[in-house]
Amino acid sequence: PFQLIARTSGVTIQVPADKTIVEALEDAGVEVLTSCEEGICGTCETRIVAGVAEHHDSVLEDDERAGNQVMMICVSRAATESLTLEI
Ligand code: FES
Repeated sequence: PFQLIARTSGVTIQVPADKTIVEALEDAGVEVLTSCEEGICGTCETRIVAGVAEHHDSVLEDDERAGNQVMMICVSRAATESLTLEI
């Protein structure tokens, strides 16, 4: 599990191991734009404000992953205890 701070929504939640960031946000009443939910379309691309993402998508290039600026929240998770997103 890790802490997720949705800065724009003003919501802080825990994302359990068995839920995606999208699912955890929806549980908290935050509306998220998604499509494939498999990390291949790019619809759910979200800007990272703080923390480091653990990427599991097939959208980003290697240098974009290393840059840690954006992530696909339908599949990707946090590599740090806390992750702050622009959502
Ligand atoms: Fe398609 Fe996340 S919804 S990459």
